[in-house]
Amino acid sequence: MNGIFLTLEGGEGCGKTTQLERVAEALRASSGREIVTARSPGGTAVAEKIRDILKKPETGEDLLPETELMLFGACHAQMCEHMIRPALARGAVVISDRFTDSTLVYQGCARRIAPETVARVNDFVCRGTRPDLVIVLDIPVELGLRRAKGRDAGAKQDDRFDSAPVAFHTAVRNGFLELARRDPGRFAVIDASPSEEQVTRSILEAIHARLAIL
Ligand SMILES: Nc1ncnc2c1ncn2[C@@H]1O[C@H](COP(=O)(O)OP(=O)(O)OP(=O)(O)O)[C@@H](O)[C@H]1O
Ligand SMILES: [Mg+2]
Repeated sequence: MNGIFLTLEGGEGCGKTTQLERVAEALRASSGREIVTARSPGGTAVAEKIRDILKKPETGEDLLPETELMLFGACHAQMCEHMIRPALARGAVVISDRFTDSTLVYQGCARRIAPETVARVNDFVCRGTRPDLVIVLDIPVELGLRRAKGRDAGAKQDDRFDSAPVAFHTAVRNGFLELARRDPGRFAVIDASPSEEQVTRSILEAIHARLAIL
């Protein structure tokens, strides 16, 4: 049986992490297949170390967009080789909380590295491993940021991407919508504003509609 690779994408606070668990649980119950969850950046021992560098600001030394691109690339290379490809080879369904489309959008559209350069790095590190279906959870920027703020209230969180200006998050939202517009066969855009339960239903409907085998 062939493995299936799904990713959840979208801006801050749209509900990717929340939906990853809900969708994984539903598919575990209904598909009878092995379900493997992943997150980018992270998921392997080395990739989790790189995640720390990407997420925690270093005082006095900003990370250049080029550095971010290389670190995400390194992470995705580790994830593909040590986690995603072996799982797909076993016939599992792999669901990842973000992956290379986030790199295209964040480092390309938002940090303004040439999209061809980002795409070339993504292709180089993934060696042909790419999502069968990309679910974009679309939400107005203000609502996403409000959700993320609510989540982080109390917990002293210092995430370099969450604290970026609203224009950055708008560029991110438009970037995902543009990717989906250009490749409608491989992307599904889901309205992430309704309740968790409703969003899960919409995601599962999109998965069943696009991937009849699940
Ligand atoms: N449909 C929903 N309605 C209301 N609140 C939600 C919904 N989905 C998620 N939330 C809440 O919004 C917050 C952000 O959700 P979550 O952490 O899943 O987003 P995320 O996309 O993973 O964000 P990030 O990009 O920062 O990792 C959480 O507190 C979560 O409980
Ligand atoms: Mg998350």
